[in-house]
Amino acid sequence: MSITFPLGEKFFIDSVRHFAGQIQDPKLTEDIRGFCGQEGFHRREHQRYNEALCRLRGYDLQQMEGRLERNIQRSYTFLSPLQRLALTASMEHITAIMAESALSDDDPMLGQADSAMRALWQWHAAEEMEHKAVAFDVYRAVGGTEKLRRQAMRQATFFLALDIGLCLLHMLRKDKNLWNLRVWREGWKFLFFKGGILRRVWPAYKEYYREGFHPWDRDTRPLLASWKVNDAVAA
Ligand SMILES: [Fe+2]
Ligand SMILES: [Fe+2]
Repeated sequence: MSITFPLGEKFFIDSVRHFAGQIQDPKLTEDIRGFCGQEGFHRREHQRYNEALCRLRGYDLQQMEGRLERNIQRSYTFLSPLQRLALTASMEHITAIMAESALSDDDPMLGQADSAMRALWQWHAAEEMEHKAVAFDVYRAVGGTEKLRRQAMRQATFFLALDIGLCLLHMLRKDKNLWNLRVWREGWKFLFFKGGILRRVWPAYKEYYREGFHPWDRDTRPLLASWKVNDAVAA
């Protein structure tokens, strides 16, 4: 997932910024500024992490990013700015619900993570949650329809799964684990079994398809506030 962030978050920033000049609401203009700033920092930190990871494990970062870059380039050829914004709003929902899971006490992802990694992911998760509605609000403000929003979520899900899946295959191949059934079984469990990460976020994911949905319909402010308290105590 981290491999997709530096380029993906640049795509988000560009998609939102494209419409910044059309926004009348000063609060939303301010939110856009905050959004671009936060995503810019995420890109930088994940880039550092990705480079270290790939250097240490022998993964080919250029190869993985190259494919992603070509997909993003295609979106500039074939999609309108509004369609790209709809994709961004969809992916922001996906990151927000993953973030919600990552900040919950019973999170299966970060429980055994190294403390530096946990700090990186929780910081990113908290900021994703903070700005989860910005791209969505811009999309609404510039007249995006419900139909396109739902259609974009289907596309976003497909391309995200494809891109992350291809990165995963690359890593498994380099680790010589591509045909290791035990690893696949564990991975499957981690994602889909009871308590598995994708199974946990599924109900929140589906909400996006509801007519009239808004990201703050899921009130995650208490979760964010408790993370801030814990983080301040840890610091
Ligand atoms: Fe981010
Ligand atoms: Fe984000």
